[in-house]
Amino acid sequence: MKHLIIGAGPAGLAAAKAFKQAGIAFEVVEAQADIGGQWLYGGPASAVYASTHLISSKGTTAFADLAMDENLPAYPRHDQVQSYLRAFARHFDLYPQIRLNTEVRSVSRQRDGWQVSFSDGSSALYAGLVIANGHLSDPNIPAIPGQFSGQLLHSKAYKTADIFDGKRVLIVGAGNTGCDIVVDAVHRAKSVAWSLRGGNHFVPKFFAGRPADAGNHNKRFVLPRPLRSLLHEAVLRILVGPPERFGLPKPKHRLYDRTPIVNSLVLQHLGQGDVHVRKPIERFAGELVFFQDGSAEAFDLVLLATGYRISFPFIDTALLNWREPAPHLHLNIFPPGDTGLYVCGLLEGAGIGWQGRMLQAEAIAAYIAARDKPAGAALRRQIEKFCAGPRPQDAGEHGIFVDFHAYRRRLGKVIAGLQ
Ligand SMILES: Cc1cc2nc3c(=O)[nH]c(=O)nc-3n(C[C@H](O)[C@H](O)[C@H](O)COP(=O)(O)OP(=O)(O)OC[C@H]3O[C@@H](n4cnc5c(N)ncnc54)[C@H](O)[C@@H]3O)c2cc1C
Ligand SMILES: NC(=O)c1ccc[n+]([C@@H]2O[C@H](COP(=O)([O-])OP(=O)(O)OC[C@H]3O[C@@H](n4cnc5c(N)ncnc54)[C@H](OP(=O)(O)O)[C@@H]3O)[C@@H](O)[C@H]2O)c1
Repeated sequence: MKHLIIGAGPAGLAAAKAFKQAGIAFEVVEAQADIGGQWLYGGPASAVYASTHLISSKGTTAFADLAMDENLPAYPRHDQVQSYLRAFARHFDLYPQIRLNTEVRSVSRQRDGWQVSFSDGSSALYAGLVIANGHLSDPNIPAIPGQFSGQLLHSKAYKTADIFDGKRVLIVGAGNTGCDIVVDAVHRAKSVAWSLRGGNHFVPKFFAGRPADAGNHNKRFVLPRPLRSLLHEAVLRILVGPPERFGLPKPKHRLYDRTPIVNSLVLQHLGQGDVHVRKPIERFAGELVFFQDGSAEAFDLVLLATGYRISFPFIDTALLNWREPAPHLHLNIFPPGDTGLYVCGLLEGAGIGWQGRMLQAEAIAAYIAARDKPAGAALRRQIEKFCAGPRPQDAGEHGIFVDFHAYRRRLGKVIAGLQ
């Protein structure tokens, strides 16, 4: 019996390549019209907008066994990323195993495998499932009291900056999406206000003309995370300055405890007075937005760049050891129970790249091959122990954050231990 890989974004492609190399029979099912996941601009799963470029440089993002074209810029645009992912799928001859335009509607555990129902009405039994469905497709829309009479949309629906033309715009949220969209809006809107809650660290894309993240990779000796944070925060204070100097909230977390903002343009626009910082929203009333400091202002368009919820609409999430707001999985991959269920790509962490997803996929393939051997049984004991315990305190606000240095090292050890 085959395994089914759900999703053909970077994580699903990694799983397909790892299974193919390990000789594990599989097929991939993808709801969209092509592979690429988020990078299929305009696809129903994609939250990518026209101005999106990578925030991780191409060398740190690409799969290890297929470099991005040397003629591409250091931080390629979304369509260049999508072309690279297509080239990856062709290079490893994965397309013949991928069924496009087909969504998994439901899965249920049977005595001898997993019964899966698809959007085309078909259903089939599989030995196991690799869930690689992504976690940036289900908009997190805060409940804000009152009614707004202007245009209100979430960033998932945002594609091009022409929607801002001549408007009084309010952007909500200061993740990488909010920061990118503020920069887009500045060039088109009549005015741009930015409503913020927590603070974050800001990292420029380039240091001394080189991608800023490149220096964090390929180190023989890696400082422990707290020391790395202290050292690099000091460098950022000199190169960028404290966010508070631009009117932003002071971050309450250390640099490497969360994905930082990789964007210096937004700070420049704040410094130039093109953008006005506002407190979190209290309520709407017609065209007025009331903020938590008691101030109010009229807007034509409010754009919620408030992130995404982790969701698995086709499976009973208890099977994934759900602990709000995310499943509690050993290495972000393995649920308890040895049911042939695995998750790939469910992680956050600047620097992890698609090679990090490939290591997850290789760990799954190695576990399947070693499932009936002592090494497989040893990992299974670790999985059960971890899944019965509490979520690690450093898993971040979405519950899936990893430090890429430590995580990649751990996965490497797990894979080696299963050989
Ligand atoms: C604007 C933006 C910029 C980003 N920039 C970077 C960056 O610079 N560097 C970086 O490393 N990451 C970046 N990311 C994160 C990005 O999510 C990852 O690069 C990568 O796409 C994650 O791969 P994935 O395969 O886990 O998920 P996705 O890319 O989300 O792919 C999941 C796939 O599963 C499919 N699927 C879901 N449910 C089903 C179902 N029921 N049946 C069948 N198919 C299904 C979806 O259609 C989709 O194709 C960015 C994300 C966004 C939104
Ligand atoms: N160019 C790129 O490559 C690029 C661009 C965009 C996104 N990405 C990646 O895609 C992922 C998603 O990014 P994202 O920015 O969409 O989401 P995100 O990182 O989860 O950020 C969401 C933002 O919304 C705020 N927020 C959430 N709920 C709120 C509420 N109820 N009221 C007010 N504010 C609220 C959060 O504030 P708090 O901080 O207070 O929680 C945070 O600032 C990240 O991994 C990101 O790095 C990359």
